[in-house]
Amino acid sequence: MTKKEQLYEGKAKKVFATDAPELLIVSYKDDATAFNGLKKGTIVGKGVINNRMSNLLMQKLEKAGIPTHFVEELSERETLVKKVSIIPLEVIIRNIAAGSFSKRYGVDEGFVFETPTIEFSYKNDELGDPLMNEYHAIAMKLATQEEIETIKKYAFAINEQLKAFWAECGVILVDFKLEFGKLLDGTIVLADEISPDTCRLWDRKTGEKLDKDRFRRDLGGVEDAYAEVMKRLNEHI
Ligand code: TMP
Repeated sequence: MTKKEQLYEGKAKKVFATDAPELLIVSYKDDATAFNGLKKGTIVGKGVINNRMSNLLMQKLEKAGIPTHFVEELSERETLVKKVSIIPLEVIIRNIAAGSFSKRYGVDEGFVFETPTIEFSYKNDELGDPLMNEYHAIAMKLATQEEIETIKKYAFAINEQLKAFWAECGVILVDFKLEFGKLLDGTIVLADEISPDTCRLWDRKTGEKLDKDRFRRDLGGVEDAYAEVMKRLNEHI
């Protein structure tokens, strides 16, 4: 597979064309941002960890019947993926209150929900990714009702798979963000990444944060946290 021109550079990844029109190469960077790009930094080695972790988890999800964009890991930082048109919705599943949920509703971080919740944000940096309900998404033609139903079904199924897997690793899956895309034939697949950038992961025994909140909140030990979750994943995958 030949890497061709760069198509896009995001906050954490670059995307390249290949000689196959239906395939792209994503390359993971060590760059980290928070608060809609206001805070910038580097997490050394993050790109390597996120690439590997995301690929291992997506392969696990594929085995559980959830279609993903994953095709093949090409190198430490690069992965071949199916080309999709991204549905501009951030799909957030929460098992435990934290982050913007705790702030918005005045709920203590750590409050365990009766059942998992789902919410959508409109993927739009200029607007700061505002919350959006599914009626808004359908009204704006971001997705059809049927596509929203598929996305919800996959998102909750992914939660069950990932929650159980992280529990085996002694890690609590607090919440996470997913992005879905559409293949040319309209099939919905999981895209983007699943990593400590996009999940809140707490150590079961100590409650220690093992994710990007260490960077967002200046808690220190960011690289060590990423390395620790990667180690646990490798021991249990
Ligand atoms: P939040 O509590 O800040 O809304 O974040 C919910 C989850 O989504 C958390 O696991 C972090 C993840 N997330 C992203 O992946 N990208 C983002 O831009 C934001 C704001 C959150």
